[in-house]
Amino acid sequence: MERDDSDREGVQTRAIHAGKGENRTRAVTPPIWQTTTFAADSSEHFAEIASATRPTEFYTRYGNPTHKEVEATVVSLEGGEAALLTSSGMGAIFTALMSTLRQGDHVVAQTNHYAGTTTLLEEMPQRFGVEVTLVDQTRAEEFAEALRPNTRVIYAESPTNPLMQITDLRAMAELARGRGVTTIVDNTFATPVNQRPVEFGIDVVVHSATKYLGGHSDVTAGCVVSSREFIERAWRFSLLAGSILSPFDGWLILRGLRTLGLRVGRHNANALALARFLEQHPKVERVYYPGLDSHPQHALARTQMSGFTGMLSAELRGNYEDAERFISSLRLATYAASLGGHETLVVHPSAMWGGYMTPDERRARGLSDSLVRISVGLEDERDLIADFTRALGS
Ligand SMILES: Cc1ncc(COP(=O)(O)O)c(C=O)c1O
Repeated sequence: MERDDSDREGVQTRAIHAGKGENRTRAVTPPIWQTTTFAADSSEHFAEIASATRPTEFYTRYGNPTHKEVEATVVSLEGGEAALLTSSGMGAIFTALMSTLRQGDHVVAQTNHYAGTTTLLEEMPQRFGVEVTLVDQTRAEEFAEALRPNTRVIYAESPTNPLMQITDLRAMAELARGRGVTTIVDNTFATPVNQRPVEFGIDVVVHSATKYLGGHSDVTAGCVVSSREFIERAWRFSLLAGSILSPFDGWLILRGLRTLGLRVGRHNANALALARFLEQHPKVERVYYPGLDSHPQHALARTQMSGFTGMLSAELRGNYEDAERFISSLRLATYAASLGGHETLVVHPSAMWGGYMTPDERRARGLSDSLVRISVGLEDERDLIADFTRALGS
């Protein structure tokens, strides 16, 4: 689906210019405010900034001018009113959930999420007294059936890591409306270039900025985007949780954001080409990529995404060892965790999560032993296809 952006500046323009108002210096490339604390003019001024909400120049755990510029840029890209940077994607997820939930509340989430999110959700009842119901995200009616009077949050990730399943974000927002339920979406895989949950009525967006927003595999960070009121609450929680990003890392995210539109466009194109190539290869059983006509939710993906990301997974015809052999035969793709960087990375989910899930649990989540997850990078398409052709042939 082509999104109609004709009434606003394009993604690349906003990525470059939207935060500029926050740079009060004459430096074209904004400085890194590498300081933990800021001087007050007087005792009155100190008292004022010490009790202010989200002061930019008081103490870096409370805020920092570098972060302010990043947050303004992310808000312009995602929508919403305000953003909060955190020291990792899990920091963003934890902050968004725990600043909303209290003991006795109930969360509806998905059976498939990034594994760290799944672990947090599984531990919630015992650790925090929060009930959790996990539903099949591909069936919108399951979210509705799971609602209870004490449901406070519906939490989704779309597309999911690593099976690229899609959640109907409009249906999710509609379900929560008028019920006092906060909707939270992990938009890490899609990025705001391809999908903007806020436009569908979702309340809160979280990111592992470690991935596409940073884009160069050199910074671990996260962010939460929402209304001003929500972000103030999340900020108060983050003051206590201490999940604060360093100013230098904030600056790296800003540097990465400058090329987000360009990079994601290329990631989308490379991934689609690789997905099409793998789909017709005799050694590949199945490809999971929402941009393929064969993806069971392709039609839904087209209604809420304008591109289908650089992430895909493929099930090889073979077993665990075949998948390992294939990955180590690749020359351009590196066998490494993480995703969304400029270089192609491949992981073997069965190996990655082998220590956290039994084989039965992995199978129940659809993670077969021959599944490989590919974060398609920015290399030249023909070189990538040549590398995958050679590795599949070997
Ligand atoms: C979809 C998704 N959300 C959140 C995270 C956690 O991010 P971080 O590693 O920055 O804490 C990841 C990490 O891989 C992820 O893939």
